[in-house]
Amino acid sequence: MRKYVIAGNWKMNMTPDQTKTLIDGIKAELFASELKAEVVICPPFIDLAAAVEACKDTKIKVGAQNVHWAEKGAFTGEISADMLKAVGAEYVIIGHSERRQYFGETDITVNQRVKAAIAAGLKVILCVGELLEEREQGITAEIVAKQTKIALMGVTAEQMKDVIIAYEPVWAIGTGKTASSEQADEVCEIIRNVVATLYCGKTAEELTIQYGGSMNAANAAELLSMPNVDGGLIGGASLKSADFAVIVKAVR
Ligand code: PGA
Repeated sequence: MRKYVIAGNWKMNMTPDQTKTLIDGIKAELFASELKAEVVICPPFIDLAAAVEACKDTKIKVGAQNVHWAEKGAFTGEISADMLKAVGAEYVIIGHSERRQYFGETDITVNQRVKAAIAAGLKVILCVGELLEEREQGITAEIVAKQTKIALMGVTAEQMKDVIIAYEPVWAIGTGKTASSEQADEVCEIIRNVVATLYCGKTAEELTIQYGGSMNAANAAELLSMPNVDGGLIGGASLKSADFAVIVKAVR
């Protein structure tokens, strides 16, 4: 039995006060429902403390959107894994395509961040996914395999218990263009097979693989019904408590 995980990636949205309001709204929506999925909320760094406070005494977990690989030092503007742990974050998103596209993130720095996060005791949501040109060129499988293999260099089978992979086709992020459930399932299965070759069948079977990219209240149930889709990484729709709750409840 794989764990379903629904994570909200708030990106660069919300102040600490707004964080409290939105989480209170999510709690109200989910109140009294038996959660079939782990729920994770990933606000900006500056909101983490408010999010941890708002999620106290609930099952909702809090995650960050990035982490630096060094323990500490002269890295202006960066945040370490120990700092995230100290504020109460349990998860961290690593390798999001917006980091890769706009902030020069590479497969190698993604790997460094993944190793540092796991070593500090954080759970990782590792993002992989192809560009539209890559899909059109027919190289989606090669691209996600390469991203996955490099990101997991030096990560042991034991440590894979702390890793979730999010398949996020870049052309579907924030565009309103969702991958079809078949497309999502196909690539999630490719990723699962890559993990099976890197580790073993059991590690691959137990791995939670999310789909992300314009997942919303209307399409979540169908995407989440696919055999290789074990959750979602939700951007836009995670900023509305009612929509996010519908997605969480779509897990059966
Ligand atoms: P979106 O973002 O749901 O707004 O497409 C998903 C993501 O970037 O994680």
